Amino acid sequence: MKRVVSEQRLAYVASVCPDGSPNLSPKGTTAVWDDDHLIFAHLHSHQTVANIEAGNRLVEINVVDPILRKGYRFKGRATVHREGPLYDEGLRFYRERSGLDPNRVSAIVLVRVEGAAPLTSPAYDDSSTEEEVERRSLDLYGLARMRRRP
Ligand SMILES: Cc1cc2nc3c(=O)[nH]c(=O)nc-3n(C[C@H](O)[C@H](O)[C@H](O)COP(=O)(O)O)c2cc1C
Repeated sequence: MKRVVSEQRLAYVASVCPDGSPNLSPKGTTAVWDDDHLIFAHLHSHQTVANIEAGNRLVEINVVDPILRKGYRFKGRATVHREGPLYDEGLRFYRERSGLDPNRVSAIVLVRVEGAAPLTSPAYDDSSTEEEVERRSLDLYGLARMRRRP
């Protein structure tokens, strides 16, 4: 799970609005924080952060490898850090990982993972192998893999 999150970075985060409607948006800063937590950076995530700060801390996060058509879904409670040690460590993490300017980050959102489950595409229903699904995805997107994973 950690490998997929670290490789993909892009995850979709669902939260719940005060009127009960769902709110889903992509977060390309999704990262593994430790064995029990994921984080993402709030740059333009006003509604997600507002929902969490309004008191509904439950979020669901989906991360999928679009080539292998597999991924994971995580559920947990989120907290928003606008200052303090976690905020400072998060800013340092993103600056080192991708050179993200700390001034662009309004908050670090920490999600304690309380449940995790695999996501597998129906592309595997016909007993296709990962190699076959990968080949079809690469063809679909007109891509070629530069190197194979070890
Ligand atoms: C590929 C992609 C990655 C994104 N990554 C982030 C991110 O890591 N953090 C962020 O705050 N916004 C990110 N955004 C922008 C938000 O998804 C976008 O502003 C969204 O409307 C925020 O929705 P919300 O207010 O419901 O959270 C990303 C957008 C895209 C298309």
